[in-house]
Amino acid sequence: MTETAAEQTETFAPPEQFAAAANIKADEYERAEADYLGFWAEQSRELVDWHEDFGEVLDWTNPPFAKWFVGGKLNVAYNCLDRHVLAGNGDRVAINFEGEPGDSRTYTYAELLAEVSKAANTLTDLGVKTGDRVAIYLPMIPEAVISMLACARLGAAHSVVFGGFSSDALRSRIIDAEARVVITADGSYRRAKPTSLKPAVDEALSQGDTPVEHVLVVKRSGQEVDWVDGRDQWWEDSVGQASDTHECEFFDAENPLFILYTSGTTGKPKGILHTSGGYLTQVLYSMKAVFDIKPETDVFWCTADVGWVTGHSYVTYGPLAAGTSQIVYEGTPDTPHQGRWWEIIEKYKATILYAAPTAIRTFMKWGEEIPAEYDLSSLRLLGSVGEPINPEAWRWYHRVVGGERCPIVDTWWQTETGAHMIAPMPGVLSTKPGSSQRPIPGISVDVVDDSGENPAGPEGGLLVIRRPWPAMLRGIWKDPERFKETYWSRFEDTYFAGDGARRDEDGDIWFLGRVDDVMNVSGHRLSTAEIESSLVAHSKVAEAAVVGAADDTSGQAVVAFVIVSNGAEDSPETAEELRQHVGKDIGPIAKPKTVHIVTDLPKTRSGKIMRRLLKDVAENREVGNTTTLADASVMDQIEKSVAGA
Ligand code: WT7
Repeated sequence: MTETAAEQTETFAPPEQFAAAANIKADEYERAEADYLGFWAEQSRELVDWHEDFGEVLDWTNPPFAKWFVGGKLNVAYNCLDRHVLAGNGDRVAINFEGEPGDSRTYTYAELLAEVSKAANTLTDLGVKTGDRVAIYLPMIPEAVISMLACARLGAAHSVVFGGFSSDALRSRIIDAEARVVITADGSYRRAKPTSLKPAVDEALSQGDTPVEHVLVVKRSGQEVDWVDGRDQWWEDSVGQASDTHECEFFDAENPLFILYTSGTTGKPKGILHTSGGYLTQVLYSMKAVFDIKPETDVFWCTADVGWVTGHSYVTYGPLAAGTSQIVYEGTPDTPHQGRWWEIIEKYKATILYAAPTAIRTFMKWGEEIPAEYDLSSLRLLGSVGEPINPEAWRWYHRVVGGERCPIVDTWWQTETGAHMIAPMPGVLSTKPGSSQRPIPGISVDVVDDSGENPAGPEGGLLVIRRPWPAMLRGIWKDPERFKETYWSRFEDTYFAGDGARRDEDGDIWFLGRVDDVMNVSGHRLSTAEIESSLVAHSKVAEAAVVGAADDTSGQAVVAFVIVSNGAEDSPETAEELRQHVGKDIGPIAKPKTVHIVTDLPKTRSGKIMRRLLKDVAENREVGNTTTLADASVMDQIEKSVAGA
């Protein structure tokens, strides 16, 4: 992956036609910078349908607790549905759904509004009120989007839990958010096999100590399910029978929209809280500016699952609020064959594709003759998200998928930022393989040294965000102290993102990965501490240390070093048992790629594990400086046992 200097400075000017028709022109950066609050107020009034206009743009009198668009009233679901229908666009396709087994469904905006109204009426019947929380544990099917919008319509916050997470993970999120209702499905399809979801919900609720009163179950895979009378109901029996009209209320700009749990540096996931007016403003602005959306003609496809923030902002809220047509796909890229994505693009004539570098690298391995068999000429813009995209993957994406005519927007953002923060304006900037380039208009970021005062040198430093932004998280659910501590304590009045970055001679930003104990596996965020605590909870484990090691396909891979307890065997079977244990405990995505059983771990004299050294071993590098180790011979033993394994 090493690049020569010449390759690094190679840029791709926006195609002439693209630039001429682009939503954003070059003066936008300066205009926004001249008065950033005025800029966001203008964008918000243009893009959001406010039921009552706001007064003050930003209340930052009690940092880091922000209030945006003070006093404004809106309904986010109304913005995603009703307003398009009222404007005469009810017949436009909102969702082209493609199920993994090959079934498909289409919803127009008018049909989607009817479905969301039915779901909102059902949730109301189940006692859900403004200010409540609803947990959503669904596969990538339209009902996931419908459920989220039904919550938004009622002013109840949803907490979507990725369907690949375990019952334990679901349970702790239900309890923390105090959800009254869970929406789930019997099961889903993955790699041509039905996989179940309902049993995980049953297990999560089995101790009877959660606030959940009702479980709404979508029939998807047709599997047999256990049933708790009085608690469980089929979606088709309740939502299916409900009235398809629903008069919505309008809520304060700061009414909670959702909580989404994400991994931090400690074992306990953080409930990231997003509210309504600011979030919708920035998500819509990014649709317009970064994705250059033309709702009348575009067919947008974001391949992320709604269980992650990318699916919240760029499957549910962004495309629908923008009024465009989009594709929702349930399955994996290689089922039933490795051309599935390209087949879907050809079928629906997708114009914008938004995907993670891991997927691109996987397609590279499968070979460019596969996409070459399909007509991808409808595509006009490509997006990348979730992890740094290496220049080689960028160029492949540009050439093979984009036919050298599509700009690529490499979008840096986080669960916490709610929407894009750093990405090129595709009609303005010449793009550069591997660099996210510049903050979007209205956003101010810096790359600083450890003191936070000075710009970082060529070797790079820490990415910080200088000013509040509309879609910023409003806090960590029920934990204001952790919110302050995690993001706002390292530098004064400045948001610390946890990412390393550097600027090149042109001032363009390159990301260097996380600087904390957070790993990024296939664009998904995992915490070393969370996996370590899962491992040590197993009876065969005495101590564990986990690192993210560089991986050609997934960016990073989880590698665990484990000391087994007395009596437990040092064998491949034990290692495999521990891998499976983590998969069951947290979810398959957290399963370590490798578990090394060792006799000791590298520790400082004060007992702190030096993960940096373990990372050297996991990445096959010469082990770095060991002088601070309590026992310097430990690393030799570890290297020997890893080599012998
Ligand atoms: C972390 C956030 C953003 C939605 C998906 C992940 C990494 C994200 C990029 C990018 C380099 C990126 C960062 C960030 N990241 N996008 N374009 N280039 N790194 O959301 O799970 O909250 O993870 O993903 O390290 O901090 P998330």
